[in-house]
Amino acid sequence: MITKNNIHLLFDFIKKQKKTKSLKISQKNNNFELSKFSYTDDIIINKDVIFNCKIDKSLKEICLIIIPLLFKHKKFFIAQLGQSLDGKIALFNGNSHYINSKKSILYLHSLRCICDGLLVGVNTIIKDNPFLTTRHIKGSSPVRMIIDPSLKLTNRLNIFKDGHKNIVFTQKVTNKKLKNTTIYQLPKKNFTRCLYKKIIELNFKYILVEGGATTISNFLEQDLLDIIQFIIAPIIIGSGIDSIKLKSISNLKYALRPKSSLYKLGDEMVASLEF
Ligand SMILES: NC(=O)c1ccc[n+]([C@@H]2O[C@H](COP(=O)([O-])OP(=O)(O)OC[C@H]3O[C@@H](n4cnc5c(N)ncnc54)[C@H](OP(=O)(O)O)[C@@H]3O)[C@@H](O)[C@H]2O)c1
Repeated sequence: MITKNNIHLLFDFIKKQKKTKSLKISQKNNNFELSKFSYTDDIIINKDVIFNCKIDKSLKEICLIIIPLLFKHKKFFIAQLGQSLDGKIALFNGNSHYINSKKSILYLHSLRCICDGLLVGVNTIIKDNPFLTTRHIKGSSPVRMIIDPSLKLTNRLNIFKDGHKNIVFTQKVTNKKLKNTTIYQLPKKNFTRCLYKKIIELNFKYILVEGGATTISNFLEQDLLDIIQFIIAPIIIGSGIDSIKLKSISNLKYALRPKSSLYKLGDEMVASLEF
């Protein structure tokens, strides 16, 4: 049975597969292996990938979204935005807990679990004071990376209290010390591209760009994302921070129209766009 306690092992197993067609995967205790036979067809990803194992109901929709991504990409920058139907990710006062349902939070933690790096902008850390760990399922937490051009972060924030590793990208020359943190100073010119290159140079392969709007929009504008996912709650907020802020365009032919897939996630929906 695939549960919150072993799903990370399934994701790791899939990451290691070179072949992505005609796969039948079975489970013995906590080990996953390739098998020749199909018995239960409990999860059918597509006609080529079949799992011969039972799965906890709450994780099935999550697997149907994540597994094809892991088969297709051996590395990626994936952005996620939890938003309302009218495209808001937080109120103007910064409140954003919670727009999405528990199931979507579980999905977000599954995304964290498949990633080795998690990138956010400094406003998200200061406004939300999050931990950004994989807590709702078993699995390792990605290294937290924070974009903080003028080094506003202080050791009082939660990310510096739990002993987990952080990386901060700044433009400021500094000798500031932040707990469990490596600080990289990067040039102001082409800053976003420099930090993208630095992350690759540091050998990270699966990066979750978790927000906020400014950070994700910068990556989108500079064509640095492989995938962007909108986790859409069926609520209308009416005013607040927009999920994406790009330069205005003069004609709809300039709108981004990447390949899209839509998935159900409980009462919510995931729109997954691949560039
Ligand atoms: N619903 C969700 O999925 C979700 C996820 C995450 C966050 N949020 C919400 O989003 C809000 C924060 O979003 P936000 O758009 O205000 O801020 P943000 O993206 O968290 O942080 C933006 C700041 O980070 C720095 N930064 C990020 N990318 C940069 C780049 N490429 N180049 C230079 N500097 C860069 C800048 O700092 P400086 O200003 O110091 O230069 C910028 O002002 C919070 O209220 C949070 O609750 C929602």
